[in-house]
Amino acid sequence: MKVAVLTGGGDAPGLNAYLKGLYLCCKNKGFELYGYLDGWKGVLENKYIKIEMNDVLREFHEGGTFIGSSRTNPAKDESTMNKAIENFRSTGFDVLIAIGGEDTIGASSKMHKAGIPVVGLPKTIDYDLEGTEFTVGFNTAINIVMDSVEKLISTAKSHKRVLVLEVMGRHAGWIALYGGLAGGANYILIPEVEADMNDLVNLIKQRYERGDKYAVIVVAEGVKISDSQKYEVVDEYGHVKLGGVGELVAKIIEDHTKITTRAVNLGHIQRGGPATSYDRVIPLLLAQKAMELIENRTYGKLVCIRNGEVGAVDLYVAEGKTKKVPLELYEKMKIYFA
Ligand code: F6P
Repeated sequence: MKVAVLTGGGDAPGLNAYLKGLYLCCKNKGFELYGYLDGWKGVLENKYIKIEMNDVLREFHEGGTFIGSSRTNPAKDESTMNKAIENFRSTGFDVLIAIGGEDTIGASSKMHKAGIPVVGLPKTIDYDLEGTEFTVGFNTAINIVMDSVEKLISTAKSHKRVLVLEVMGRHAGWIALYGGLAGGANYILIPEVEADMNDLVNLIKQRYERGDKYAVIVVAEGVKISDSQKYEVVDEYGHVKLGGVGELVAKIIEDHTKITTRAVNLGHIQRGGPATSYDRVIPLLLAQKAMELIENRTYGKLVCIRNGEVGAVDLYVAEGKTKKVPLELYEKMKIYFA
């Protein structure tokens, strides 16, 4: 068989582990593996490479994806979709493995409905993909956030100031909540819950009154505080380019407490660098499941982890949806904001 793979959307640590897993699974079966360059862009431009042993062994330890990624949307209109289908068919590839988050998996679902044999693998540092308990990159991202919070605590203490850390998380606050809790942040704001700035300000005042004269606050980039937050750049999937809410939160804190407050935007650091052991080993397991589906000619599936087990769900389960932090979970965790 000739198997093609692409990595779509924002990159994530652990993508190269998927590529190593897929390559060695293919090799074991006598299949060839081809990598489309830069996600769906490679499909639209018919650009791909044959993946070789030395590529995957060399790149396994690196962050990012060695076949590149982009936010190109193959399903943005009918003619783009037809072009993607026509190009894929012209290659003679038997199946396409799409590694991505909701955008890429949603587009894969549409491709599958249009007759292309597709298998999906879960990726997103944001962890907001429906149908799976694992998305590659999330574990690494929350470890980076944990580490950043700890670093900020030490400098915040020295200067008796408040530091606000803005992290990724457009629609969902998983990174903010898990990374923040792990690092011991004093308060966390997520997009799913209306920001209670009075509660936050009161907590900071109480900390200073009792002698804990510093605070580190984590805020997800998708948090809405005021109508003045306007974003203009929009990608092919209709997502605006976010950024800046940390500054806004810092200003509100400083205005209401008169304590020096600074904002730090962690940005792409939380998406870069090598993956954690978890984000390397689980992709190797999921690659085997993807290969099993392909051997059985079972397409239109997203390989996943559910109830702790490797499995597969229909691709459309993840199409057009966002897995959000349940409000009850956030409320439960609020007792750790102190
Ligand atoms: O991959 C998703 C994400 O991490 C979002 O949280 C964030 O808004 C976005 O990527 C930013 O990525 P880029 O700068 O590549 O558009």
